[in-house]
Amino acid sequence: MAHSNSIEIKEFDTIIIGSGLAGLTAAYHASKNGSVAIITKSQLDISNSYYAQGGIAAVTAPEDSFESHIQDTLVAGRELCDLDAVEILVSEGQKCVQELISLGMEFDKEKGEFVLGLEGGHTHRRILHAGGDATGKGLTCFMLKKVKEQNNIEVFEYTTVVELLVVDQICAGVQAFDFVTGKNIVFKSKATIIATGGLSRIYDRSTNPHTATGDGIALAYHAGAKLSDIEFIQFHPTALCIPGEEAFLISEAVRGEGAWLLNPNGERFMQQIHPLAELAPRDVVALAIYNQLQVHQTDFLYLSLKHLNPELIKKRFSNIYQTLLNYNIDLTSDLLPVSPAAHYMVGGIHTDLSGETNIPGLFACGEVASTGVMGANRLASNSLLECLVFGKRAAEKATQRKQIYIDLPELNIIHVNSENENNFLEAKNNIAALMSKNAGIVRSAEKLNEALEELRIIKSRLPEKINEYNLLKIKHIADICTLICESALIRKESRGGHIREDYRSEDPKLCVHLIQQKDQHFRFQEINK
Ligand code: SIN
Repeated sequence: MAHSNSIEIKEFDTIIIGSGLAGLTAAYHASKNGSVAIITKSQLDISNSYYAQGGIAAVTAPEDSFESHIQDTLVAGRELCDLDAVEILVSEGQKCVQELISLGMEFDKEKGEFVLGLEGGHTHRRILHAGGDATGKGLTCFMLKKVKEQNNIEVFEYTTVVELLVVDQICAGVQAFDFVTGKNIVFKSKATIIATGGLSRIYDRSTNPHTATGDGIALAYHAGAKLSDIEFIQFHPTALCIPGEEAFLISEAVRGEGAWLLNPNGERFMQQIHPLAELAPRDVVALAIYNQLQVHQTDFLYLSLKHLNPELIKKRFSNIYQTLLNYNIDLTSDLLPVSPAAHYMVGGIHTDLSGETNIPGLFACGEVASTGVMGANRLASNSLLECLVFGKRAAEKATQRKQIYIDLPELNIIHVNSENENNFLEAKNNIAALMSKNAGIVRSAEKLNEALEELRIIKSRLPEKINEYNLLKIKHIADICTLICESALIRKESRGGHIREDYRSEDPKLCVHLIQQKDQHFRFQEINK
């Protein structure tokens, strides 16, 4: 690893942090109105969006309607969605999808008609997909191509943002660290858009890539941005569960085609729990599986597709089918061992309908943002749609900002000491185990307080002023987990993706957003109904 104390200074109109679908969409639109830098800590094509299997929900079928998509989103969100945000998502979502198609994006069709999938909580078939179960890959590759065609977008791979530069309460750019040269770089900008994705890798079983550790949340929080509803973590009900192996996602679309969930006795159980059975909203299915796992004292249940047409399944889910063959599992004829895994951060950086945060010049879009569309539980396949709609909105507002002239604040120069890498991995694994045990699908005050105490101890071992990257990462992860546990403690009810065994039902008084901000008390904010 190269080291250097010198600081490079670069200037762009708009900076985008992250290269998932939200970041790429924002970059593409921002480039119509100025220069853009995309900063990504890994490769351009590593993101949560890339791995999305399910698809993108949008109203395209004649028998479907905006009202129906809005209603399904609100029902899944358990009264915590902001209606104006959901209306924008659904109506502008359809236009964004049409715009993509006019640019050349191809969604799967049969006999000239879109092949529309069904997923949990949707009352209509409305999920568009590309390449069967590789929609995220199809969409991000398409947007990558579009981004690469723009000559005013510059990409900085293997570069991580370590601080947002907020001067006189305005975000004036970022400080970043280049892993290849070891240099600190200041990127000055009129606007900065955080599109760093989620944080599900803070749990030990997650469907996300290793990079999903909530960096954007930590950066925004430390800069003074408001966060909302971060206690809501969505656990995907069906991730492959093989000891020692990663939690590979088995798309909800598989249940959309009729797959059954079976307990260890080979019995279906979802029909007794919800009228939509296996296709109930995700929080309902994940909790039902959790309860079955407790009753049967087992680590996994089964997904069965034995009763379905094998040729259709192989064609529709070719990526899942091929991946499972590596584990000697045949998707069409074997029982698949599955259990829930952390999948999506429902809350995030609080933004208005243009993706702007409470800090002028700072925007957020995609999974890292809390725009008000997801409520207490995201409706399946609304997330890629949110990336398109609010990525575009954020870029359009961001590029209206005027040039600002600032004196750079004093910088905390960051370096990497590879001797700390093992410390980071050990701390990350310990925190992931702690969060899974104490702040997973089912929480309680006792478990959350225990986790907070452990996190306090982890943080107390860190130096007060941190200028080493691995130690900074430990602090950021411990900070985010502390924030999740604190908001989960405040929400003394069970709603959507937040289940408290000591407060089993919904509390109408808590039908509000929970706002957290550095050096401020918790606040409640009304839902826009
Ligand atoms: C899935 O394919 O089940 C995941 C899709 C999503 O998270 O919306």
